Amino acid sequence: MSSSLQPESVLPASGPRTEDPTLRALRQWVANRLGLRFDYQRSDFRARIEAFCRTVHHAPEELLDKLLAEDPEMVARVAEIISTNHTSFYREPEAFTVFQETVLPSLPLGPLRIGSAAASSGEEAYTIAFCVRDALGADAAARVRILGTDISDRQIKLAERGLYPRFLLPADPQLLARFIQQGEDYEVPEAVRAMCLFRRMNLVQMPWPLSKRFNVVFLRNVLYYFKPTLQQRILEACYDVVEPGGWLFTSLTEPLLDVETRFCRVAPGLFQRLRE
Ligand SMILES: C[S@@+](CC[C@H](N)C(=O)[O-])C[C@H]1O[C@@H](n2cnc3c(N)ncnc32)[C@H](O)[C@@H]1O
Repeated sequence: MSSSLQPESVLPASGPRTEDPTLRALRQWVANRLGLRFDYQRSDFRARIEAFCRTVHHAPEELLDKLLAEDPEMVARVAEIISTNHTSFYREPEAFTVFQETVLPSLPLGPLRIGSAAASSGEEAYTIAFCVRDALGADAAARVRILGTDISDRQIKLAERGLYPRFLLPADPQLLARFIQQGEDYEVPEAVRAMCLFRRMNLVQMPWPLSKRFNVVFLRNVLYYFKPTLQQRILEACYDVVEPGGWLFTSLTEPLLDVETRFCRVAPGLFQRLRE
């Protein structure tokens, strides 16, 4: 995750002995349930939680009760404000090599639908679009649609803008050259943006409002927010929205070894829905 999870050089005034018990319980819940630790960043944690409590008009005790009761909306919203929405272009690049060399050649010719679930600010969806154009050429790529979804309206708006500061772009000069400079920022080219559409969607609220199946779904670096039973439900919901013969990518850091699934496990982070 981002540098915001690095230890602070100086412990906040509310050190270990003075931490409010409710905040401590919330921090422990976040560590156990979301896997995100704020042991050395208690002031940051407190600021995020207090701001959130003001937004939802809850006292911290009320929020804690809802989280302990696994209120799905509250769990997702806390995951959102606590997580950093960290993402990047070509994140875990080996996945995109497999996507281009194994997955795309296995798919039928013609229009394709690809999902980027928990898309954050859009870098994953645009990376998929770049890879499709590289592998299939511009004409075939124009018939590919990539749907990026995220629970956060803010991230969806950023994704739709498709405008990024230089430091968020790929370091590789060949990849960098694909972006169009607009003042101090860089824009994803129009032909690539035209392949991508972004919508708000909460993975925890099922059934998902999707009318068509996907040939490939990317669902990376979000499942760790959820407890194993919910991971399993989300994985199975993915199975239902993937075409027979279609594929699911999860993160290499989320092998989901304990989760039962109808998907065939092809490799760590790669699943396939076999043809019936
Ligand atoms: C760490 S980012 C992952 C971005 C991208 N998939 C990647 O791998 O680089 C996690 C994203 O999951 C989103 N998220 C968290 N809970 C969610 C939920 N219940 N439904 C949909 N998206 C969610 C967050 O808003 C955040 O943008």
